Amino acid sequence: MATRIGGRSTGTFLCVIALSTPLWIPNAFAQPRAELLHWWTSPGEAAAAEILSKHVRRSGVQYVDSPVLGGGGSSAMKTLRARVKARNAPTAVQITGLEVAEWGERDALNDIDALARAERWSEVVPKPFQRYMKFQGRWVGVAPNVHSTNWVWANTDVLAKVGITQPPRTWREFVGAARKAQSAGFVGLAYGGQTWQSTLIFDSALLGAGGPDFYRKLFIEGRRPGNAHAVLEQAYARMSELRDVIDDQSANRPWNLATAMVINGRAAFQIMGDWARPEFTVSGKQVGRDFWCFRVPGTEDSVTFNLDTFAMFKVEGAEKVQGQQIFAKTVMSPAFQTEFNVAKGSVPTRSDIAGSAFEECGRRAVQDIAKASKRQTLLGSMALGHALGTEQKDALSDVIHRHFSGFLSDKDAATESLRAIAR
Ligand code: BGC
Repeated sequence: MATRIGGRSTGTFLCVIALSTPLWIPNAFAQPRAELLHWWTSPGEAAAAEILSKHVRRSGVQYVDSPVLGGGGSSAMKTLRARVKARNAPTAVQITGLEVAEWGERDALNDIDALARAERWSEVVPKPFQRYMKFQGRWVGVAPNVHSTNWVWANTDVLAKVGITQPPRTWREFVGAARKAQSAGFVGLAYGGQTWQSTLIFDSALLGAGGPDFYRKLFIEGRRPGNAHAVLEQAYARMSELRDVIDDQSANRPWNLATAMVINGRAAFQIMGDWARPEFTVSGKQVGRDFWCFRVPGTEDSVTFNLDTFAMFKVEGAEKVQGQQIFAKTVMSPAFQTEFNVAKGSVPTRSDIAGSAFEECGRRAVQDIAKASKRQTLLGSMALGHALGTEQKDALSDVIHRHFSGFLSDKDAATESLRAIAR
């Protein structure tokens, strides 16, 4: 694990706080301290993490930035378990979805409800998002951003070379375009062979095959619609079509290296959350000219979302408790959420921030989320832990990954999926 220490010399520190109205005024007590354990290590993610460090340090906190390599966060979660066992929990930890509440059940989280009330977060954060920052109705975390997973990223130049000048509008057109690119010597779909990446693609395959009501019933309400097996089989058939347009070097490839294949013109498409967009930006690419972002065809009316919650862990010592409060308040501030989300490719969790600062894909995300919220098609991403319990999600992800790796037929995968989520 790489650890960046955010402390400054006293001289620099005093100068910074004088300029930026800190939340903490130096006095006889120790300087407030905070540490965030997270997995933002790709170039685009690291640029966004740097904005977080800047805002937290400016608020007078001695900040330790602790990134753990590995998209999707499974390595970071291993580190977290080891640290909690060693009674050395970080002040805050990036955790996605319902796993936050699972740490609450283990009595590992700090209640920050008083701060939430004072700051009126309940009034500015939409209800569907609050669920991922609370445990038993009380705030135990803060989230700066909402991502969504049903996006396609496309290289316009590669597609122009095979005669495609518009984003595909239907699943058929999408698969057809990927096949065309593949026949011309490109990779149709850039993909990294890791369980969370195949599962992320499955979010969209299922949503496209079954529609939002089916997705909601199966993944969010835990019901089993009568046509469940047939729809799952159709979703797996879509996954099989995609398996035919990936390359044979994909095993264990990190997601951002798959994005780089689209950026560098090796591949036509990638299905990935909107954290992919900053990878294009840091490479100097422009939306419309060099790349397109569009919703996975067949899922346009819905948004499968995931929040990055920073869960507040129980820490000892006044300087850490105080640092945790200041950290939480900074993360929920409009100034931070605006600057951070532009860099991260996501949308603020506060609904009182205008989307005008965002580039095209970000503006579309703001609009899509607002529309989906009205239509009730704003759905938690199963892949990123916002639907199903962690145990069910892990069991289902294993089936999805074995199928996408070619070890299960569409039919057997559908049968095993129903078994996995019935636990
Ligand atoms: C997180 C994103 C992150 C992505 C890839 C997702 O689980 O929500 O913030 O960029 O993983 O690392």
